[in-house]
Amino acid sequence: MSDSLYDSFIADYYDESPIVKGRVQDVAFYRNAARDFGDPILELGCGTGRITMALAEAGKRITGLDLSGRMLERAVKKRAALRVEARERVHLVQGDMARFDLGEKFRLVIIPFRPFQHLLEVRQQMDCLECVRKHLASGGRLILDVFQTDAERMHDPVHMREVPLTEYETADGRHVRISERVAAFHRAEQRNDVEMIFSITHRDGRQERLVFAWPLRYFFRYEVEHLLARCGFKVAARYGDFDRSPIRDDSPEMIFVAETR
Ligand SMILES: C[S@@+](CC[C@H](N)C(=O)[O-])C[C@H]1O[C@@H](n2cnc3c(N)ncnc32)[C@H](O)[C@@H]1O
Repeated sequence: MSDSLYDSFIADYYDESPIVKGRVQDVAFYRNAARDFGDPILELGCGTGRITMALAEAGKRITGLDLSGRMLERAVKKRAALRVEARERVHLVQGDMARFDLGEKFRLVIIPFRPFQHLLEVRQQMDCLECVRKHLASGGRLILDVFQTDAERMHDPVHMREVPLTEYETADGRHVRISERVAAFHRAEQRNDVEMIFSITHRDGRQERLVFAWPLRYFFRYEVEHLLARCGFKVAARYGDFDRSPIRDDSPEMIFVAETR
């Protein structure tokens, strides 16, 4: 069904990467949000189910939607490993977050770890928010996170040079080095072509270089607020990090909690 860029080697390396494994604060944040706002929950861009399974284990009914069949295959395996009561609370769907109709209302819709930044066009972003609005129960909340844009970082040619990010060993003994570079800047479109380069040494010594290349849409605070307003939402709270601190100059994140007007 999908032509998702995540239907690639990245699905096999995603969960074990320290970049993903190290993200524990957002799991706690979304678990607290689920406690505060209730279920059923819809998670858009659920990927391998990193957040999905944590919320199911916390007792919440959750539907995870993702475009990528390969990311969802991972999620299916994780669901199978849950205790039976938690397993029955998880529903996984393949679909496009900018065009879905699940025929169900949710108390909470979440878009964790930046899937919204894969929606490059304003029309797609608005389609997504309109779909969310149709799926929200009365008084329900939408929470989405994007990174706070550092404008200098978005344009400086120094970032075209490949820089090492992290390295790790997979459970089956592959050594992985990840580096990153910006391949092209598209300032007028608020989008950069980013490459994450995986240099892999297999157990038999074979070397492999795999590149995950994707267009990254970056957002500014008031742009997101205007976009939400345009789609019938008002911002109930905003945070600069998962510790719920305010958005400051050096905040890494922009997290919006929105409700319908
Ligand atoms: C960085 S991953 C985040 C996964 C997960 N939310 C997490 O926190 O680990 C981004 C995910 O968004 C999904 N995605 C990108 N565009 C999408 C779309 N249009 N509809 C649904 N999912 C999409 C990708 O397939 C990928 O699984």
